[in-house]
Amino acid sequence: PAPGWAIDADVVVVGSGVAGLTAALRCTAAGLRTVVVTKARLDDGSTRWAQGGIAAALGDGDTPEQHLDDTLVAGAGLCDEEAVRLLVTEGPDAVRRLIDTGARFDTDAAGTIELTREGGHHRRRIAHAGGDATGAEISRALVDAVRDRAVRTIENALVLDLLTDADGRTAGVTLHVMGEGQHDGVGAVHAPAVVLATGGMGQVFSATTNPAVSTGDGVALALRAGAEVSDLEFVQFHPTVLFLGPDAQGQQPLVSEAVRGEGAHLVDADGVRFMAGQHELAELAPRDIVAKGIMRRMREQGARHMYLDARHFGADMWASRFPTILAACRAHGIDPVTEPIPVAPAAHYASGGVRTDLHGRTTVPGLYACGEVACTGVHGANRLASNSLLEGLVFAERIADDIAASPARAGDPVPHPAPTVLPLLDPDARARVQHVMTTGAGVLRSEASLADAAAALDAVYAEALNDGPDGNKAAEPGVESWETTNLLCVARVLVAAARRREETRGCHWREDRPDRDDADWRRHLVVRLGPDRT
Ligand code: SIN
Repeated sequence: PAPGWAIDADVVVVGSGVAGLTAALRCTAAGLRTVVVTKARLDDGSTRWAQGGIAAALGDGDTPEQHLDDTLVAGAGLCDEEAVRLLVTEGPDAVRRLIDTGARFDTDAAGTIELTREGGHHRRRIAHAGGDATGAEISRALVDAVRDRAVRTIENALVLDLLTDADGRTAGVTLHVMGEGQHDGVGAVHAPAVVLATGGMGQVFSATTNPAVSTGDGVALALRAGAEVSDLEFVQFHPTVLFLGPDAQGQQPLVSEAVRGEGAHLVDADGVRFMAGQHELAELAPRDIVAKGIMRRMREQGARHMYLDARHFGADMWASRFPTILAACRAHGIDPVTEPIPVAPAAHYASGGVRTDLHGRTTVPGLYACGEVACTGVHGANRLASNSLLEGLVFAERIADDIAASPARAGDPVPHPAPTVLPLLDPDARARVQHVMTTGAGVLRSEASLADAAAALDAVYAEALNDGPDGNKAAEPGVESWETTNLLCVARVLVAAARRREETRGCHWREDRPDRDDADWRRHLVVRLGPDRT
């Protein structure tokens, strides 16, 4: 669609979680004209839902080196060690700057930050806020700071595509803005630097911890723009998501790893602990190992879920330490003070994404990425718990510094062809994509399941091109149809990568290739769409 309006800026930040708002605040502080665009409200992204906390070597006796070791082990041989080293060494000061911005973490009576444990960490290293409402507090502090500093924001603005100049340099983005006001409909922000901070793609699966806005928009935009995307096969399934039934759809309540960090046990249908014999850290093994342990026992027992037993915390500890989870469980008729919590794995985090260097630069000049949408190399094949908020902070700061150090001017955007990648899809296709992905490319995969998924996604795509048996499926341009277009785009690339990686590693679990294959597969799968963007 041709933009109906345009505004100018030095930087446009797409997304308003920890990564986006941190980048925007630092760009603004550097004197850059910064515009934040976000698909819903400023605090509607994934950051707000983060529970456990933010990992950093803040405690007595802890060191960045130990944090590095735990991150590399969890990443199963695919982390970029240099990127991890930056994350863990710059992380503690980045957290202190977040506190200076206004975030209030839980402290003891002496004012020392309280730290908890989560899977894969050999020590207490996770700072938290409001007990289990860390993301909500970080989001509050950053949104307040953005408002205090009068950073320009456009809410309800779905990013469509990257604009480039005649030399292929970033020149801004096109947007579809819903609502009343000066900037409705399709428009553009012209800027020589674009920071993608659009979050994840959990909605590609039927059940996820991600909010409704996590539809892979940034990865899809980057693919259409010809940027490199990497590691999409590594979708992390959180082991302990409140089980609300086999047909539960959309965002599901998380039961933080911090609950296990404080001593909760996983038990099977007979009440037997089953992680103890599987890993030296038992319930606190890295997340992929716990998710696999749960899935295996579910299969052995023909059960649809396992249980998390934390009755021994007692009512006071539940209310003070985990008020969000307590309320969510009770809202669904489960009282964790008196009964074990039914839990099962659900899609949680995209360890891969838009490939960047150590300054958050993508392979398209002027296009940056940070937060879940990015693949900076810190997560490898399986993100270490609570490293994601930290990654958002650290790499957003690095991006802002890079933009401020090398201000660029883009030429005029070249006219943008419309539509850019696919005919817009009927929003009903979304449920089909989610079902296909959950059954074929979920926590446990095989060549057969992935081949079925690929064929089914091809059929959805063919129908979108009006070639399918149902005739014309094109939908009116709108947020839902754009989102579905994006979901289908990232789903197809994800399935292709998962088929290609013929091994089991980290959170990529192939039933037909059960072993890790370091000889052939200690490498990344990098994808770039061809000129026809398919
Ligand atoms: C949790 O609280 O369990 C989630 C932490 C994370 O995803 O890093």
